[in-house]
Amino acid sequence: MPTRASTPAEKPSASTEYIPRTDSLASLQLAAGACKGCDLYQRGTHVVFGEGPRSARLMLVGEQPGDQEDRAGKPFIGPAGRLLDRVLAQVGLDRGEVYVTNTVKHFKWEARGTRRLHVKPSASEVQACRGWLLAELAAIKPTMIVCLGAVAARSLLGRTFSVTRSRGLVIGDTAWAPWLMATYHPSALLRMPDEAAREAALAHFTDDLRRASETLAGLKASRAS
Ligand code: URA
Repeated sequence: MPTRASTPAEKPSASTEYIPRTDSLASLQLAAGACKGCDLYQRGTHVVFGEGPRSARLMLVGEQPGDQEDRAGKPFIGPAGRLLDRVLAQVGLDRGEVYVTNTVKHFKWEARGTRRLHVKPSASEVQACRGWLLAELAAIKPTMIVCLGAVAARSLLGRTFSVTRSRGLVIGDTAWAPWLMATYHPSALLRMPDEAAREAALAHFTDDLRRASETLAGLKASRAS
């Protein structure tokens, strides 16, 4: 059985005057394309909105698009996405049935020679984008949310949430879904230089996604019986 924990109070919501009041994902995506809620729109190629079926029971929330996602306008298609897809398949989750999105919808980067390197979004950029994430949550109404990394977890659970301390803990009765869990970000795994540490973290990440899969499967089975 998943561990129940009390949910930290929801943070005050972000300024939302630029977010249309609709639960149409297509309308939200269109409006997000014109978002100027923070300055990141000036450097991004595309706004990268979430992707997946409206009926998804599982919603994965990453940090922000990377270089490849920014160019294609699709979430998690680069190296982190490939690792995510591999682990999802390993634990019996079909990416085609999952809604995948990011906390911040534009790529924040700095030039290093010809490369565009990821820069962590600031608290104000996360806050400016929070209304889009809340709108996606309201439209999808997932049964379970998995936050990938601290930026996603803190956007929903508050700034003091620690992924290192609370990774894998299934939190019940949240404001947005019956279940929520935070785990590592796949990019963090790819960046770990020490092979043994990377393998250990990958095993934890896989266990966490397996727990998410089992929680969803358990709920499905208990509804059917
Ligand atoms: N990292 C993220 O957090 N999101 C993506 O879409 C790609 C990499």
